[in-house]
Amino acid sequence: MTTPDDAPPDQEVLRIDAGGWGWTWAADSDGRLHQVGLGLDGAGAAVEVDPVWYPHAHPAWGGPDPFRPPALRITHAEGTTTTRLRLDRVERQALGDDELVTVRTVDELLALRVAFRSRTHRYSGVLEQWIEIDHDEDGPVTLWDYDSIAPAFLVGPEAVVTQFGGAGWADEWAWTTERLTPGTKVLDSLGGIQPHLQRSPVLMLEPNGPAEEAAGDVIGCSIAWGGNTRFALDVRPRANDETRDLRLRAGANPLGAHYVLDPGTTFVTPTVAWTWSTGRGELSDRFHRWTRGRVLRDPDRTRPIVVNNWESTFFDFDEQRIVGLIDRAADVGADLFLLDDGWFGTSSPRDDDTAGLGDWDPDRRKLPEGLPALVDAAAGRGIRFGIWVEPEMVNPDSDLFRAHPDWVIRDRREPREHRNQLALDPLLEEVRDFEVSVVDRVLGGAPGTSYVKWDANRPVTDPGSSALAADRQSTAWVDWVHATWEVMQRIADGHPEVELMLCASGGGRTDHGTLRWFHEFWTSDNTDPVTRVRMQWACGHWFPASAMAAHVTQWGDRPLPFACAVALSGRFGFDLDLEALDDESLAVCRRAVAVARRTQDLVQHGRLVRLVSPVDGDDRGRAALGYTAPDRNRAVVFCFQLDEPSSDPPALVIPGLDPEVTYRIRATDLTSDPADLGTFTGADLAAGALGWRPRGSTTASILELTTSV
Ligand code: GLA
Repeated sequence: MTTPDDAPPDQEVLRIDAGGWGWTWAADSDGRLHQVGLGLDGAGAAVEVDPVWYPHAHPAWGGPDPFRPPALRITHAEGTTTTRLRLDRVERQALGDDELVTVRTVDELLALRVAFRSRTHRYSGVLEQWIEIDHDEDGPVTLWDYDSIAPAFLVGPEAVVTQFGGAGWADEWAWTTERLTPGTKVLDSLGGIQPHLQRSPVLMLEPNGPAEEAAGDVIGCSIAWGGNTRFALDVRPRANDETRDLRLRAGANPLGAHYVLDPGTTFVTPTVAWTWSTGRGELSDRFHRWTRGRVLRDPDRTRPIVVNNWESTFFDFDEQRIVGLIDRAADVGADLFLLDDGWFGTSSPRDDDTAGLGDWDPDRRKLPEGLPALVDAAAGRGIRFGIWVEPEMVNPDSDLFRAHPDWVIRDRREPREHRNQLALDPLLEEVRDFEVSVVDRVLGGAPGTSYVKWDANRPVTDPGSSALAADRQSTAWVDWVHATWEVMQRIADGHPEVELMLCASGGGRTDHGTLRWFHEFWTSDNTDPVTRVRMQWACGHWFPASAMAAHVTQWGDRPLPFACAVALSGRFGFDLDLEALDDESLAVCRRAVAVARRTQDLVQHGRLVRLVSPVDGDDRGRAALGYTAPDRNRAVVFCFQLDEPSSDPPALVIPGLDPEVTYRIRATDLTSDPADLGTFTGADLAAGALGWRPRGSTTASILELTTSV
C-alpha cells in the first residue's frame, strides 16, 4: 500500500472520535494524506498501526497508490487523467456533542478541490461521510469514480463479508456470507428506482471471521442513496504474513454514470454511514439509534396496525367490498385501513396493471362516491384511512401519457415497458410539479386521509433525459436521485401529519437516504412468514422494527397463528381477506391484535436482542428474537420453528435482562390466550432456564415478560 519514496506521515490532520471507534488521518511532508488509525482505538493515539503500514487515504487515479483501483478518478478539463491531492486545511465545526470535520485538499497541479467531510453521531456510534468536489479549470471535468469512503483495513485470513438480497423481486434481504479472497469483489446495483431489489445498499464486514451477537469485530456500512450503489472490496495478500490488506470503497455506482462537472459547481457524493462495533448486536443498536435519531420521520410515534386490501382483492373491488373490509378491520381492532392499487383511472380504468397509472381520479364505476365515502366509512368505525399512489409512473394507456408522451424517461430509442409502465422523468420541472400535485390532489380530494403508501414498480432501463444536453446524459443517474428526493421532501413538508410508507415492488427502495421522508417501508412483497422470518432478521440488522412493515397474509399457506406471530415481530398489520375468515381465524387475529397492543411499544421502540439465528449456524430451522424496554422491566420474545425440528430443541437463552429482577412470563402460540409460565430471574433466563416452546413446523411462541407479579 505504500511506495518506497513515501515519507512517513507525521502531521495529524483528522482524528474522528465516532463514538466508541474512530479514524485518524495524517499528512506526510508532501501533504499527502494517510490513514494512520482505524478501529475501536482509531481515535486514540495518533499512530496506532504498524508505521510501515500507513495506507494512503482515499487514493485517486495517478496518485501515490498506482496499482489499485482508485476511489477517485477524474479526467481534467485539459485532458489529464490523473489527480494528486495535497492537504490544504482542516475545518472543525462543533455541533453540540458532535462535530462536522472537513479536510480540504487541492490537486497539486490543477485547480480542482476535494473536501472530505465527516459528521459524527456519537450517541449512536454511526459516522456519516461524503466528499465534495469542485474546480475552476478551463472547462468541465469528468468524474469517473467518486466513492464516498475508502477506508483500508488489515484483515485476517478468515475475514468474511455479508451482502443482502440479490435475486430480484420477492427476494429482498437474502443473507449471503462469504470469505474474502484476494482480488476485487464488487457488490453493486443498477436500475435507479428500485436497485435494492438487486441488492440492499448495506454491507457487513467481519475482518476476523464471523462475529457473534456480543463478540467479534463487525464493520457495518450503509450507502444512504436512492439510486445505483457500489461496494468494492479490494483484497491483497501481504508477503510473509497471514493478514491481508483490504480497501473498502463505497458510494454511488458510477457505471454509466460519469459525472460532467462544470467549473464553479460542486459535486456532492452520497453519504455513507458506517460503524465499527463489537458484535452484531452492537452494530444493530447503533444503526437503530442513528436511524431513529437521524433518518426516520416521527421516530417516537408508534406506528398503526394497518389492514391492507392488496392480497385479498388485487384490482377487483367496489365500494361495498372495501366498506366490508373496513368494517372487519375495525372489528379485529386495527387502527387504519389502507386502500391499495386499483382505485383510480377513468377513461383508462385501472382494472389490472396495463392501464390507468398517471390518472389519479377515482374510478367511479368501483367507487361511485369517490374516496371521501371510504374515509367517512373508516372514521365512522373509529379507524383511519390510507391510500396507495405511484406518482412517478405512467401506463402508456392513460390520459397522462396521451397528453404528455414526452414526460417519460427514455433515450432516443423506443422505451421498454416494465410491468406495462414507464417512469416519468423527474428532471423535468413540470414532472416534479405533477408528482407533488398527485399527492396534494389525492389527499385534498379525500380529507382525513392520514397515510400514504408510495410505490414505484419499475426500474430505469432506458436511461436518458430530454432535460439534459447530449454530453450530459450520463449525469441523469445521480440527478434523478436528487430530483426525486426534492419531490419527496416537498410532499413530506406539505403534509407533515400524514404518515408515508416507502415501497417499490416490495422493499425495492429501502435505503437510509430515501427513508428520510418516510415513516416506514414495505419490507417485501414476499409475505410467506417462513421467508419473512429470515428477511426481517437480516433487515433488522439495519432498521428498527417500527419501520419494517410486516403484514399477515396467506402467502405460503402457513398456519394463521404462525403468520400472525411473525408479523407481530415487525410493524404489525394484515393483508388478509378478513371477510372470508371463519370465527376461529378471526379469534386468532383478535388475539394477535391484543398482543400487538401490549407489545408494540417494545417491538417498535425497544432494544432488539437476537437469540437464535435462522440464517447462519448449524440449524437454520429455528429463530428467536426479543425486544426489551429501556429500563429492562418488560420484554417480549418471539420464537419461531420454521420447519420440522432436525435437532433437539435448544434451551432458550435470553441475555440482556436485569439479572436481579424477577420476571413473570406469559406465553401464547395465538391458538389460545396467554398462559402463565411462572416467574424467573433475569439471571435464570440468561442461563437458559426456559425451554424451546414451539412444537412442530411453522409454530411460534410469544413470551411476554413483565415485572408485575
Ligand atoms: C407493488 C407493491 C404491492 C402492491 C402492488 C400494487 O408490487 O409492493 O404491495 O402495492 O405494487 O400494484
